[in-house]
Amino acid sequence: MNKLWGGRFENQLDYDIEIYLNSFYIDKYLFNYEIKVISAHVKSLYLCNYIKLNEKKQILNSLFLIKNNFRKLNVEDIHSYLELELIKYNGDLGKKIYIGKSRNDQITTLNKLMLLDEIEKINILLIFIRKTIINLAEIEFNTPVPGFTHLQIAQPITLGHYLLSWNEMLKRDHINLLNCKKNTNFCPLGSAALAGHNYKINRNIVKKILNFKYLTENSIDAVSDRDYVILFSQFCNILIIHLSRICEDMIIWSSNKFNFLKLSDKISSGSSIMPQKKNPDLFELIRSKSGRIMGNSVNILTILKSQALSYNKDNQEDKESLFDNIYTIKNTLNCFRKCILVLKFNKKNMYLSTLKNYSTATDMADYLVKKGLTFRDSHKIVGNCIKYCENNDINFFNISLKELKIICNLFENDIFYFLSIEGSIKNKNTYGSTSPNQVLNSIQRAKFFLNNIILKFK
Ligand code: ARG
Repeated sequence: MNKLWGGRFENQLDYDIEIYLNSFYIDKYLFNYEIKVISAHVKSLYLCNYIKLNEKKQILNSLFLIKNNFRKLNVEDIHSYLELELIKYNGDLGKKIYIGKSRNDQITTLNKLMLLDEIEKINILLIFIRKTIINLAEIEFNTPVPGFTHLQIAQPITLGHYLLSWNEMLKRDHINLLNCKKNTNFCPLGSAALAGHNYKINRNIVKKILNFKYLTENSIDAVSDRDYVILFSQFCNILIIHLSRICEDMIIWSSNKFNFLKLSDKISSGSSIMPQKKNPDLFELIRSKSGRIMGNSVNILTILKSQALSYNKDNQEDKESLFDNIYTIKNTLNCFRKCILVLKFNKKNMYLSTLKNYSTATDMADYLVKKGLTFRDSHKIVGNCIKYCENNDINFFNISLKELKIICNLFENDIFYFLSIEGSIKNKNTYGSTSPNQVLNSIQRAKFFLNNIILKFK
């Protein structure tokens, strides 16, 4: 195998060990970024008077050809690949450009450039998804649905309010993604092996060409830092947990028992034996992706733990989990995007469910507090009302004022508005609550925050 080193070695590397040490099988996917980085390096060598104009032109032309003629080679890594190709195309001139950098600063530069591009694609998916959710919430700002705690019907809420809770989770994910972008945006090239280098090359030139925002501050840290991989994996962890919770709700909502959601044919599959089945497979699969995402996170954290400063070969192992995270998250968000476009809510069933389980019992208790009782005392009275209803097989919607007055004479005719689904929802009117009025306010703020983060990503 062609190598970039070996002058001091007397014996051949064992074949199996060589294969084990190689990273070309995975870092070849960074080929385009390797070309970009070497092009920028060559331009800066020219600007700093290390190569002549015609030499720069020749190398850049050959890089163009090499880029369009990727072939299978038996090499150690992507850096060796390009260096050998450049020598093949340019002879000694190909060797001349290999000053003022090393593979240690190069590999993390490629990684960062690739991640920044992928962050942008994920950003676009998140914007689309959040916009769709906010629009859906606007349509359903006044649609009643039961809210759950402990998976028991708790209190009536609006579907718009429920959907905005998705947007809040994704908003935090979006902020995490932005933070990851900020932390990735430091150019390490020129840190060389770990100490910097002996040439008068202005690092700002490469930084500018590659469109990085800042230069890394310390060459030791620059070659050993993989915090941006950790930050990205943490963004993925929390995002996939959010998606798994949303999907779990949709699985429950689409179950025959709940029947809140009609599964679109576009996102569900059938059973090979039970002809009647329509299964929420996509939601289930998204839910299960959390396993691999969290596994990837353990991978990168463990690679870095206790690693002596600065660069070690351990860092080569950052790629699979990073690539897998990027692929899984992009793919998942794309499918989730398609899911939310075809959500069909069964509003009648949602409404009928709000009538169950004395969902407005808290409103009855609050009513009595308004009439002067303490909440603890009114809580007890409402408990008695529920007991009475259960014993007589009635509910809050057909109990009479006369019956209520026997339990507590503070009840008047206006109690029935407080007990109604509409009344209960309308009365939850504080900032961030479920009343249609508040939901409309939240939607305005949600749109504002989303536009704001779009600007910050620029
Ligand atoms: N393949 C290595 C990586 O992915 C980069 C090469 C640095 N290797 C070295 N022996 N200094 O991290």
